[in-house]
Amino acid sequence: MKLVILGGGGFRVPLVHSALLDPSSPITSLVLHDVDAGRLAAISRVIEAQGHGPALSATTDLTEALTGADFVFSAIRVHGLPGRVIDEKVAIGLGVLGQETTGAGGVSYGLRTVPVADAIARRIALVAPSAWVINFTNPAGLVTEAMAAHLGDRVIGICDSPSALGRRVARALGLTSSYSLGYAGLNHLGWLSSVTSGGVDVLPSLFDASDDTLRSFEEGRLFGPARLRALRAVPNEYLHYYYDTASSVRAEQAAAETRGEFLLRQQTACYDAIGSGDPLAAWTAALRERDATYMSLEGLDRDASAGGGGYEQVALELMRALASDVPASLILNVRNRGALDIVDADAVVEVPCTVTSDGPVPVTGVSVPGHGVALVRRVKATERAVLSAAANGSRAVAVRAMASHPLVDSVPLARALIDAYRSEFPELAYLR
Ligand code: G6P
Ligand code: MN
Repeated sequence: MKLVILGGGGFRVPLVHSALLDPSSPITSLVLHDVDAGRLAAISRVIEAQGHGPALSATTDLTEALTGADFVFSAIRVHGLPGRVIDEKVAIGLGVLGQETTGAGGVSYGLRTVPVADAIARRIALVAPSAWVINFTNPAGLVTEAMAAHLGDRVIGICDSPSALGRRVARALGLTSSYSLGYAGLNHLGWLSSVTSGGVDVLPSLFDASDDTLRSFEEGRLFGPARLRALRAVPNEYLHYYYDTASSVRAEQAAAETRGEFLLRQQTACYDAIGSGDPLAAWTAALRERDATYMSLEGLDRDASAGGGGYEQVALELMRALASDVPASLILNVRNRGALDIVDADAVVEVPCTVTSDGPVPVTGVSVPGHGVALVRRVKATERAVLSAAANGSRAVAVRAMASHPLVDSVPLARALIDAYRSEFPELAYLR
């Protein structure tokens, strides 16, 4: 089967390739597509050094890449890491959170990405209509919903954070055998509310456990034992930006550089080193450093020993289930179809799904904690306004989207943000 990776010159692509070396992978041909031939060449060198996997080719021609694809991964970054820095710095400069997927930065990232994702989805519908499309591009839920307008349920959004959270909590609970995760919300905005093992929800026992047990995993340290006990649920790490907004903004303002600035520096050096030295060594060192410093600005104390793969593992499991008769249970971004009764049927939500060769079907009976309902609805309304602004090229609607985000919550501020982003990003000139 043929897999195409859009954004094939991206730093995490060799992770996906390493997952494809697993004998259970259905992929025999891998095509990397990117708009940047230099990055494509660098990442191809790393992949070749990883050893023999599927037949590899690289191209900057989108139609050529997509033709005959069975699977398409979309992992693009419109305006690259310099765009991430702008997303962050404009927001921080105006006093609000500068994270790339949550808050003002996420709205900006969405506004410039949706038109590109929309064009890609149209092209896939034309030249590879039966391909399964796996979207990694952030903001992943919003971008998946944009692509679903053309691809329906053949586009599936993925994120590593819900399954990683589930793995860490299962380990803290001492679970070794099979368990199922009651996780629900939107991408980067979800909660784990139950963990069923042997027909029983064992999550409540975590909240009765010692502080040490609650501090034995990342989210327990990030949110603190008292708060987890009060919530009776484990929030996704991105909820930190909502529960601790003021301190998150202060930490960003006090930092010598943003995450984007750090990565821009680190990644530029890494791609240079791949070109001039040992490609695999340069890439591996940069990957370790990137992982070790993830959310360090937020005070996240990384749980490096939790084991299990990241997003490449989710992608492999998903492809395997879509290509075989063995169903899998995965937390995915898909159209809701009634699984979560607080948003409409077409809204893309992040929920557990049963995946077969017919595609993922969201499981019913999941819910978000009561205090999160209004937040989920409000962020989905923001996403819908972004989609509408992109579809209509409307600056006024873009301002409405920005103002409706709970971490902005002001029309004059939203106007200032949209004006500033529009003057920095040529990609936003379409907003009139
Ligand atoms: C997690 C999130 C991804 C996000 C990444 C950012 O894995 O689930 O959606 O892209 O973190 O990591 P970075 O190293 O780019 O800050
Ligand atoms: Mn994610």
